[in-house]
Amino acid sequence: MNKTILITGGAGFIGSHVVRLFVNKYPNYRIVNLDALTYAGNLENLKDIEHASNYEFVKADIRDGSKMNDLFRQYNFDGVIHLAAESHVDRSIIDPNAFIETNVMGTANLLNAAKSLWANNMEGKRFYHVSTDEVYGSLGETGFFLETTSYDPQSPYSASKAASDHLVRAYGNTYHMPFVLTNCSNNYGQNQFPEKLIPLFINNICNNKPLPVYGDGKYTRDWLYVVDHARAIDLVFHEGRNGETYNIGGFNEWQNIDLIKLLCVQMDEKLGRAPGTSAQLITYVKDRPGHDKRYAIDANKINKELGWSPSVTFEEGLSKTIDWYLENEEWLNHVTSGDYQTYYSKQYS
Ligand code: NAD
Ligand code: DAU
Repeated sequence: MNKTILITGGAGFIGSHVVRLFVNKYPNYRIVNLDALTYAGNLENLKDIEHASNYEFVKADIRDGSKMNDLFRQYNFDGVIHLAAESHVDRSIIDPNAFIETNVMGTANLLNAAKSLWANNMEGKRFYHVSTDEVYGSLGETGFFLETTSYDPQSPYSASKAASDHLVRAYGNTYHMPFVLTNCSNNYGQNQFPEKLIPLFINNICNNKPLPVYGDGKYTRDWLYVVDHARAIDLVFHEGRNGETYNIGGFNEWQNIDLIKLLCVQMDEKLGRAPGTSAQLITYVKDRPGHDKRYAIDANKINKELGWSPSVTFEEGLSKTIDWYLENEEWLNHVTSGDYQTYYSKQYS
């Protein structure tokens, strides 16, 4: 093993795709997945690689600063890819403190542990902070988020992520911590917890439940297939310039209602239902408070500098995603019933 890499939040949606890619692609790296296994963390996401010789799972909470210091000393990490976070905007509206504790304090704890471990030699070290386009706030009908766009977060979630981004840059500036940072648009794909728009709606269509569209449904997001985000993270971790920020996006804007209609069409086809059946479930409901109108990423920097671009079209990615959920009914049942906790106890007790 020539490097030990810490990936935080590796049992979550995006983190599990990053862990899989690194474990398979870099047999000479020792990959340590640190995750608290909150409701969003699920080791079933990693069943295919859990016995790989270069992979290790550590159950720990990034809010525990002294534990982070101990783990950094124990493993002597060369690099950190930090994804652990509370990630759902609606939950941040209900309980902002959980977001402040994990996203802000948890990130500070990791930065402090890395600073202390790497104090005498920062050579070859790297702290990679995975962040979101939501830190830039909301766009009007036109324009794009650039890496230079001013921060203007609007929800407790995006404010907590913005705070963590500032901390990472401040540690880079003040303590010469080698870092890279990316701000990515909405991800979709297999293993996403069914609280986010696409998996929630797939699950509801399967169960003939209403599809709750917030407000008028004319909110716009830029969607990226999760495997393409993981590919971008690999590239930036290895080839991104120190101290730089890269925006990552799908060049793929959709108004929610148009996306939902496309999803309904694909679901009808795959479930063998008459055209229009799923769309009948669309139900307009009360809007999300402070709902950001439009996000759109200009991903030209990562495209030009590192040669990254999405590998699948939205229609293809959505079709693969639906197929995965239809083939993994058991996974859906477990995450919606809480059974994955039992799985963890059985496996690691
Ligand atoms: P997720 O909610 O699916 O996974 C988060 C993971 O972090 C879970 O495994 C959870 O158990 C773990 N975690 C939460 N609190 C923890 C704590 N205190 N200590 C240790 N582990 C903890 O989230 P995701 O959608 O995979 O997002 C991953 C990262 O990417 C987040 O930082 C998020 O802000 C960022 N991001 C997400 C998207 C998106 O569309 N989902 C887009 C851009 C950026
Ligand atoms: O832009 C990146 C961000 O994308 C990430 O940083 C977040 O972690 C991730 O959760 C996501 O945030 P959004 O709030 O955009 O995602 P969500 O899937 O919750 O909602 C997408 C859009 O769909 C948004 O406009 C709200 C709307 N929506 C969502 C749900 C869950 C509905 O209309 N109905 C719903 O039931």
